[in-house]
Amino acid sequence: MLTVALSSFSTTVLAVQLITFAIFLFGVYQMKVRRNVRGHGAVQATVTIISLATVLAVMVPSLFRAAPAAGQPIGWMYAVVLGHHLLGLVALVLMVVLVGGWLASGLKPNGCPGRPEYKRKIMRATASAWVASIVLGIVVYAAYL
Ligand code: HEM
Repeated sequence: MLTVALSSFSTTVLAVQLITFAIFLFGVYQMKVRRNVRGHGAVQATVTIISLATVLAVMVPSLFRAAPAAGQPIGWMYAVVLGHHLLGLVALVLMVVLVGGWLASGLKPNGCPGRPEYKRKIMRATASAWVASIVLGIVVYAAYL
């Protein structure tokens, strides 16, 4: 059975993720309650930058460390780790596209890529993939406590 080595930064990464999640909720509040599109965009841009930095600094190296060797059976925990990374990757790509498109548009209220009628769905899908990735990340962390 494959053993997945938790990075020594795991607790720090978890704390960063939870803080980032709180910032993300503040960004949703900006949009849904305050109707502050620019505030929402700015907060989600911050979330995207923090997530990108965390993933590049810690998770990409840990993905390669935990990869099973050829022919080795894949344990359920590795499947959870993989799901966590794949969902996180999908979310991150969508976040970079949304935020990047918005920045490239010169911060126009409707500057994110996507037809207006799909925008809400794209953002919900992005948020769902990101949240699911964080939940799986917490499962991995809890399993190795
Ligand atoms: C990390 C990237 C982002 C995520 C995860 C995200 C997430 C969300 C969520 C969860 C909603 C509420 C959807 C609902 O009504 O249920 C929303 C709405 C919205 N967001 Fe974002 N957002 C992101 C980036 C941006 C950026 C950069 C802008 C640019 C200003 C933006 C503009 C909007 C607008 C205009 C709405 C309202 C859409 C509508 O009601 O039709 N978002 N977003």
